[in-house]
Amino acid sequence: MSKSKGYERLIFPLDLPTYEEAERYVELLNGHVGVFKVGLELFVKSGQEILETIKKKTNAEIFLDLKFLDIPATVGRATKVADDLGVKFLTVHCDPCLKKAAENATKGTKILGVTVLTSASAEDLKTMGMSPELCDPKNLVMHRAKMAKGYGADGIVCSGEEVQDIRREFGPDFLTIVPGIRPTWSVVKGDDQSRITTPAQAISRGADYIVVGRPIRDAKNPAEAADRVAEEIEKAL
Ligand code: C5P
Repeated sequence: MSKSKGYERLIFPLDLPTYEEAERYVELLNGHVGVFKVGLELFVKSGQEILETIKKKTNAEIFLDLKFLDIPATVGRATKVADDLGVKFLTVHCDPCLKKAAENATKGTKILGVTVLTSASAEDLKTMGMSPELCDPKNLVMHRAKMAKGYGADGIVCSGEEVQDIRREFGPDFLTIVPGIRPTWSVVKGDDQSRITTPAQAISRGADYIVVGRPIRDAKNPAEAADRVAEEIEKAL
């Protein structure tokens, strides 16, 4: 990975219930994180408004985490809209529709494949009709990452436990975005993330970007917490 500023590799998810709160965090973290991630809840509520706010008030990139899955024509058209809006990252499920998304992202939007949702257990995968080998989520992640690359994806979202294998298998140009990050100093009440890694671990294993939400959002001083994470990233680069 090339040298760059730590904060550029830091993605903050705007997991907030209202536009006003999301706007407050955009202002608070402007200059402290490189990317703001907009997910389903906020997008359904105030999609265009929040994208405009990020563009107007910051130099940060936008990650549209809408996990597209539909017929290729529909995903292709929606991808073109995101690409025209200047979105930097867009998630699409590892499905043949991803090929159309990759073809239509001509202005620079990076298409990231969603491999296996971390909420899916081996039992869920069996119920979904996966072969015994692919009921092991790690095997399925590798299988789908290969599919995604074949369809033209720029990278994938994966856990800190898989990033090293992905990096080894798919080389330095295949982007890896790692959520489930917990700095050693962070305390997240009632944490639901189980397979967690620290910023330094994820980066030294080859992550290009890390997603850090609650350790920053719930800190007494979110900008200072983001700076601490960015510093840790920079040291590990
Ligand atoms: O750091 P924190 O746990 O608060 O980050 C949560 C964010 O990471 C959410 O936006 C969630 O969608 C995202 N994410 C995740 N696990 C995945 C993929 C994305 O927690 N496997």
